[in-house]
Amino acid sequence: MKITNDIRYVGVNDHDVDLFEGQYPVERGMAYNSYVVLDEKVTVFDTVDQNFVDEWLGNIKSLLGATAPDYLVVQHMEPDHSAGIAAFMAAYPTAKIVSSGPAFAMMVGFFGTDWADRKVVVKEGDTLVTGKHTFAFVGASMVHWPEVIVTYDTCDKVLFSADGFGKFGANDIEDPEGWDCEARRYYIGIVGKYGVQTMNLLKKAAGLEIKTICPLHGPVLDTSETIGHALQQYTTWASYAVESEGVLIAYTSVYGHTKAAVEKLAAALKAKGCPKVVVADLARDEMFETIEDAFRYGKIVLATTTYNGGIFPFMKTFVHHLTERNYQNRTIGFVENGAWAPQAARILKGMFENSKNITFAANTVTLKGALNATSEAQIDALASELA
Ligand code: FEO
Repeated sequence: MKITNDIRYVGVNDHDVDLFEGQYPVERGMAYNSYVVLDEKVTVFDTVDQNFVDEWLGNIKSLLGATAPDYLVVQHMEPDHSAGIAAFMAAYPTAKIVSSGPAFAMMVGFFGTDWADRKVVVKEGDTLVTGKHTFAFVGASMVHWPEVIVTYDTCDKVLFSADGFGKFGANDIEDPEGWDCEARRYYIGIVGKYGVQTMNLLKKAAGLEIKTICPLHGPVLDTSETIGHALQQYTTWASYAVESEGVLIAYTSVYGHTKAAVEKLAAALKAKGCPKVVVADLARDEMFETIEDAFRYGKIVLATTTYNGGIFPFMKTFVHHLTERNYQNRTIGFVENGAWAPQAARILKGMFENSKNITFAANTVTLKGALNATSEAQIDALASELA
């Protein structure tokens, strides 16, 4: 696939993976992108997952024939991109690796060597000239690992963005939801904790004229409209700003009483004009879709039972996923249920004690089993407060 006159796609699609990075369901597969830049010196950007190294080397061979690449730029050492380094270096014994100092240290950890006599260490501000192309390296530490660099091709105005601007899903299946949904789930899930570092990268990117973004996952972005939209969405996500007005209600329910309260609350919110109400069953719905929605909307309600002196396990896991991703700038309401000593709201508030700029709703709904007139009135009050 041709990206520009000189840049070709040599990545692969993975339709076998069930859980990307060991936890994210990817029902439409995953793409591991890799690119070749044709010039006086030939440069390959990143490798692929271990199960696709032969296919990837075949793609390079089909493109280059007998020509050997001169450089392999390694922007990120996570194994979904780095697993092919050793095979590449064996296949092309004259090639050099261009990467950051911390990445070479990681190569020793993964491969037992950093190819010391074939390595070119680069850092922010360094460039590599391959003929008419000059690659400028930009530090992108913690987007998504500490060694990450991204690369700007000053000739074709292309940003090789590593994990940035990636999305879940293979590239040979059209995503019926478009770019945003799986790009958001990917960003929030994988990079969400590192908003500050992502904002730093976005500030650097703002100074560049970018005609094309070549990420390591998902489609190449090659129009001003798609690039502008992606930059805008990343700015919202990385700054933990509210993307959409609405309320997410995330619940667990053991015998259906808490669920009944949630359904009543959802109906009341809609009746009072709330622009969007999303309801998620944490035991059954895909957890990372719900995490994505928690970061998307400005208000969430957590509805759960007291359990073993704490809260129900799926809710505990959910809140842990939020707080470890620096959840902030949101309003949170509670529906708690406990047959003899409801205390979920108190415990949940404590779980957010280190989160920034969290506002707790003034109204809490408390059930001791089933709904009654008191808890129904509390639901109405909470709905009025949040709608
Ligand atoms: Fe796509 Fe952080 O690896």
